[in-house]
Amino acid sequence: SIDGRGFFEKTGLYTYDPGFTSTASCVSAITYIDGDLGQLWYRGYSIDQLAANCTFIETCFLLLYGELPSQRQLDEFENRVKDEMLVHEKIKDFYKGFSPNAHPMSIMCGIVGGLSSFYHEAVDVTDPKQREQYAIKLIAKMPTLAAIAFRTSKGLPIIPQVMVDALDKILILHADHEQNASTSTVRITGSSLANPFACISSGIASLWGPAHGGANEACLQMLDEIGSTENIPKYIAMAKDKNSSFRIMGFGHRVYKNFDPRAKEMQKMCHRVLQELNISNEGLFELAIELEKAALSDQYFISRKLYPNVDFYSGIVLQALKIPRDMFTVIFALARSIGWITQWNEMMSESIVKIGRPRQLYVGNKKRKYMDIKNRV
Ligand code: ACO
Repeated sequence: SIDGRGFFEKTGLYTYDPGFTSTASCVSAITYIDGDLGQLWYRGYSIDQLAANCTFIETCFLLLYGELPSQRQLDEFENRVKDEMLVHEKIKDFYKGFSPNAHPMSIMCGIVGGLSSFYHEAVDVTDPKQREQYAIKLIAKMPTLAAIAFRTSKGLPIIPQVMVDALDKILILHADHEQNASTSTVRITGSSLANPFACISSGIASLWGPAHGGANEACLQMLDEIGSTENIPKYIAMAKDKNSSFRIMGFGHRVYKNFDPRAKEMQKMCHRVLQELNISNEGLFELAIELEKAALSDQYFISRKLYPNVDFYSGIVLQALKIPRDMFTVIFALARSIGWITQWNEMMSESIVKIGRPRQLYVGNKKRKYMDIKNRV
């Protein structure tokens, strides 16, 4: 029993593993993480090589088909994606139904789920060709949907090359990350043979939380709250205080106990962007750099192996790119779509798709007799 309170069914044996810290939920050939060595590979290629040499669309091809494309395959793939970029006119009417102050992530949850209403008839998730078509539709439509979610009426700024490179790197580095919370959510939803767009919508909802993809937006909110470099020691002390729920957002990771390899790439890019745009001395960016230094030299963070994760730097880079904060996690969702759909496709290709159905340890009341309302006090 748990704390001497519970009792269990007597049938079978199962493990009690809250947060799945040591339970593999599937067999996968897509992404490999070595948390101790700080390594991350997509289909066997380390992400530093991919981030340095290839584009996001090549990364999509690699994840989806398992191999890097030849030039001909890449051109063909790009053309197929381009052909699917437009969304149904009626989808645009959908946007009018949201509150004018809606967070773009709430719009994305609704809109991507809504796509299932246009692509549901005769859907056969057991057919590999149909699954491939869904994957291409998703990769193609996500940027369009995200762009509509953002109020383009504000006008577009001129974009320097360093910004284009930074955005492409962000997309590559976020493309897949094995069985994280949102991917596990997509797999569990898919395991009931649900519509693929509905599966992705559940992944978007899971990603939104500040302990997951929402950390990039939460990191910037935290920097605002800290306000200036003099306040850093006070906030570091709060993060260490076990009576306070405050955490340094963008620090720590369940699997990486050395350094998040994506963060290493983003850190280089972040410092390059700040330098080339000549904004390292601007309040918020200076504060981020000082906070990074302070936490990395503090025994509390060192002993718990708490390093900046990818969201610490991606938030700062996206802010430097003048992307509105509530779009940060939408961009993450856009990048992760290829990982979600590839993982879904892998699961659906298995000879038997078993519905995801964890058990629990029951600690509630023992069986009781129903009491009529007039006898209750
Ligand atoms: N600031 C201060 N202390 C922290 C932080 C942090 N950011 N992260 C973990 N700790 C401490 C915990 O209090 C705990 O201390 P204790 O051993 O004294 O009890 C210890 O480090 C271990 O932390 P856990 O919460 O057990 O780690 P877990 O693996 O469950 O959580 C998580 C990982 C959710 C990422 C956590 O580090 C966190 O909340 N970070 C901030 C949010 C964030 O950046 N999320 C993005 C993750 S990356 C991504 O999803 C793309």
